[in-house]
Amino acid sequence: MKIAVVGTGYVGLVSAACFAELGHHVTGVDIDEAKVRTLQGGRSTIYEPGLEELIRKGLETKLLSFTSDLTRVLPHVQIVFSAVATPQGKDHKADLRSVFAVAETVAKHVDRDLVFVNKSTVPVGTGEKCENMIADILKQRGMSCCVPVVSNPEFLREGMAVTDTLMPDRIIVGINNQLNARKTMEELYRPITRVGKPMVFMSRESAEIVKYASNAFLAAKISFINMLTELCEKTGGNIRDVATGMGLDTRIGPRFLHAGIGYGGSCFPKDVKALIAIAKEHNLDFGIVEATDRINARQRKRFFDRILASLPKKSAVAVWGLAFKPKTDDMREAPSLDLIPMLLGAGHSIRAFDPEAMEKAKELLQSGVAFAQSAMEAAEGAQAVVLLTEWDVFRGVDMNELQRAMKGKDLWDGRNVYEPSEVREAGLEYHGIGVI
Ligand SMILES: NC(=O)c1ccc[n+]([C@@H]2O[C@H](COP(=O)([O-])OP(=O)(O)OC[C@H]3O[C@@H](n4cnc5c(N)ncnc54)[C@H](O)[C@@H]3O)[C@@H](O)[C@H]2O)c1
Repeated sequence: MKIAVVGTGYVGLVSAACFAELGHHVTGVDIDEAKVRTLQGGRSTIYEPGLEELIRKGLETKLLSFTSDLTRVLPHVQIVFSAVATPQGKDHKADLRSVFAVAETVAKHVDRDLVFVNKSTVPVGTGEKCENMIADILKQRGMSCCVPVVSNPEFLREGMAVTDTLMPDRIIVGINNQLNARKTMEELYRPITRVGKPMVFMSRESAEIVKYASNAFLAAKISFINMLTELCEKTGGNIRDVATGMGLDTRIGPRFLHAGIGYGGSCFPKDVKALIAIAKEHNLDFGIVEATDRINARQRKRFFDRILASLPKKSAVAVWGLAFKPKTDDMREAPSLDLIPMLLGAGHSIRAFDPEAMEKAKELLQSGVAFAQSAMEAAEGAQAVVLLTEWDVFRGVDMNELQRAMKGKDLWDGRNVYEPSEVREAGLEYHGIGVI
């Protein structure tokens, strides 16, 4: 099939490269011309394992191409995916301007039937708004072509995005009574459904809700376990044992029960807040989701306050990990963007290391941060080391070597990855979350 994917960010670029890998003819479209040039040259604009190889392969086989001009692609495609960003806007509501801009461009320039698929995370009712907008513009233009709007929310995890896209747990498709659009979506995803992955059809409204509901549920699980860290700290409990004990219950399961400094990134924080805003609009009490957001903010602050209170004046602090999670260079809502300015503001100096996110971090962090080439280089002469992102390279650190490299003794484990006894045996002070 011939498709256009508009927005070549973390979702759109991976989708475009994976659809090409599945044999479709794909054009990735982005308004950012510099990004398009980089992609045309076979280089990925984001760090995502396996992605650059797929981009190069797609360019070589000519199944994948990139452009900044959507209007030139429209005459040739059966499907337009919108995968543009929907960041947090006014009152925490999703900012839908990019989604509507793409829908408007399609409506103003299309001259044949096609399916408009919304992959971005959008509040319930957005698909209907897009469909009405497109129909109105087509009517004004005197065009009789048909452009149904389908909801196909994305569930990929950054760092695992290629695998998640090619082998998803499920494909959710929201369609309201458009038989042809359903057939188009079935054909598009056949290479994936053929290997047994489920494709679930439902109304467009249900599909739009599934996305926010899934993210809010996972975030709630994280906040639930983080809430219990406070109880552990006050009573001598150990959150790891509590999580193990809970997670072995098959009704609960062990995933997303890992206590730490809370969730960050481009999705959970904004989607949780957007769902709260959606509930408010409908006069609904979504107290669980509000508490999820509140506990997450408190969890991060509690840990950072403990660090700040412990540091002697003008300390050298090593920060391990800058991205919001491992295996990505995404810095959106990363804890490092909160902690580092706090430490600098308090007069401390920072030496940071991240295996992939340092280039992006340099653009976002104020001057005064030194960047190291390794975890040990960052820790050299430091009063304290703070682990913020649990990259594998930090997990395997030799604690005796770390103790020799540091000036002070404090290891702040924001992700509860180290064994406290091992850290202490090396002569360091261990500070975890909900772990004594
Ligand atoms: N990042 C994730 O892990 C993830 C996972 C699931 C769902 N989502 C959702 O997918 C959507 C996209 O997220 P993302 O992380 O890929 O965003 P992103 O910011 O990485 O990428 C968005 C891209 O769209 C481009 N763009 C903006 N307006 C455009 C326009 N009018 N025409 C063409 N291109 C335009 C931008 O230049 C950018 O390259 C969001 O709604 C997000 O909530 C993201």
